[in-house]
Amino acid sequence: MLLRIEHLSYTYMKGTPFEKKALDDVSFEIDKGDFVGIIGHTGCGKSTLVQHFNGLLKPDEGNIFLNEQCINNSNIKALRKSVGFVFQYPEHQLFESTVYKDIAFGLKNEKLSKEEEQQRVIQAANAVGFDLSLLENSIYDLSGGQKRRAAIAGVIVMNPQILVLDEPAAGLDPLGRDEILDFAVKLRKEYGITIILVSHSMEDVAKYANKVIVMNEGKVEMIGSPGKVFEDEDRLRKIGLGVPQIATLFKKLSVAYPQYNIDREIFTVEEATRFLLRLLGGENK
Ligand SMILES: Nc1ncnc2c1ncn2[C@@H]1O[C@H](COP(=O)(O)OP(=O)(O)OP(=O)(O)O)[C@@H](O)[C@H]1O
Ligand SMILES: [Mg+2]
Repeated sequence: MLLRIEHLSYTYMKGTPFEKKALDDVSFEIDKGDFVGIIGHTGCGKSTLVQHFNGLLKPDEGNIFLNEQCINNSNIKALRKSVGFVFQYPEHQLFESTVYKDIAFGLKNEKLSKEEEQQRVIQAANAVGFDLSLLENSIYDLSGGQKRRAAIAGVIVMNPQILVLDEPAAGLDPLGRDEILDFAVKLRKEYGITIILVSHSMEDVAKYANKVIVMNEGKVEMIGSPGKVFEDEDRLRKIGLGVPQIATLFKKLSVAYPQYNIDREIFTVEEATRFLLRLLGGENK
C-alpha cells in the first residue's frame, strides 16, 4: 500500500467565527499503480484533502502514511520527490526565464551534474510531449497547451511516486483536456506513477480511474471501482452528482434487450463504440 489516510479531519480558521470543517474523519487507502478519481461538488473538500498529501496542509486530527511512514509533519520540500502536485492552473507555477530552467527548478538541491540534469529535463519534457526545440524559450512565448505541458514536466522531473492533479484541465477545450489526461495514463503505464485526479467530470473519472472516491461535505460518501460507485445512482443524485449518461443508457439497454448480452459496465463513449462495433459485427448474437 502506497498511501493510507486514517481519520483525517481539518478545519479552516479554527476558533474564529469563520471556522469551517472541511474534512471530517476521512479514511481510505491507495495502492501503487492506482488511478484514483476524487469527485464531489464544489466545496466538498477535495482540494483540502489532496493538499495534505504533499505537506501543504497538516492534519488537525488523524494520520497520513506514505509507504507506511507517517508524513503528518513532513514539509513540502521533503515530499516533493515523492508527491508531484499539479494545481488547477499549473502554468501559474512557472516563473524562471526559460522553460528549461523552469522544468529543472526542483532539481536544484539534487546535486546532479549538468549532463544528468539535462537528461532528467529532456526525459520529463518528452514524457508530456513538450516540444524540445522550445526549451530555451521564455515561457511567455508558449501556447497555453505547451505552457501546461512545461508545468507538468517541472513536476514529474522529480520522478514522484504519486502525481496529484487537481482539476488539471480547467479552462482547456475538450481536446486539451484529453491530452493532459492521456499524459497521466502514459505516466502511469510507462513509469508506474500512481495518479490521483481531482475532477468535476464523472465522464473523466469513468474513463480513467480504477478507483473512485466520492466526497460529500468533508466526508467520503462512496469508494470503489467505477462500476460499484455508478451502481448506486440514487445515492449519487442525492448529493448532486450523476453517472455518465452513457452508463445510464447502457444499463437501460441491458435490461430491455437481454438477448444481446449487453455489458452493464459500459461507462464511456469509447467502450460503447467498441461494444456496438462488436455487436454489429455479429459477435454478440
Ligand atoms: N483557505 C481557506 N480558508 C477558509 N475556508 C476555506 C479555505 N479553502 C477552502 N475553504 C472552505 O473549505 C471547504 C472545502 O473547500 P475545498 O477547496 O477543499 O473544496 P473543493 O471540493 O476542492 O471545491 P472545488 O470543487 O470548488 O474546487 C469549502 O467550504 C471552502 O469554502
Ligand atoms: Mg478544489
